Amino acid sequence: AVELNPALQLLDWLLGTWESDEPGTGGFPTIKPFRYKESLHFSHVGQPVINFMFNAFHAETKKPLHRECGFIRLQPGTNRVAFVIAQNSGLVEIEEGELKGQQLSLQTHALARISFAKEPHVQQITRVFQLLPDGRLEQTVFMATDNQPLMQHLHITYHRSS
Ligand code: HEM
Repeated sequence: AVELNPALQLLDWLLGTWESDEPGTGGFPTIKPFRYKESLHFSHVGQPVINFMFNAFHAETKKPLHRECGFIRLQPGTNRVAFVIAQNSGLVEIEEGELKGQQLSLQTHALARISFAKEPHVQQITRVFQLLPDGRLEQTVFMATDNQPLMQHLHITYHRSS
């Protein structure tokens, strides 16, 4: 195995594959509440960059739904983190934020979308990844759209599967 780049030491707890244990819960004022499953995969090839893939599925039918992939960097010598993200909905995004212990808090720093993206358009995303004391990982996502202020869209916990 390739050795982890020392620049990523503070994020080593994220690496590997995670599967939702309980189905995640989704909602928003404008949509019907829903449940979903998701796998997260964080890997590296020795660069000071983490590669990630997030794949979500319908909780009952297992139909593939939302997918994201991208790259994570830590600004050397700081706790500043940047995510470069592409989503299958036609959204590309940079989220930046801070690493505090084993909690990552991020918010949209730049956002663009394909010209024919579905409406309403997302205007802002904030999310938190947190390693829980029992070793599970938790992700909470808030978003604002053209017609709704920042509200929770997703909450889910994962266990490490490899
Ligand atoms: C709806 C954005 C992740 C499932 C929506 C809507 C937006 C959105 C803008 C429409 C809201 C409205 O009509 O007012 C996002 C963003 C995500 C994300 C930016 C990631 C940061 C996910 C994930 C799932 C999911 C991981 C898991 C399956 C749904 C469902 C709906 C929805 C089921 C309602 C039906 C639909 O519009 O397709 N999302 N979403 N989303 N989202 Fe997400």
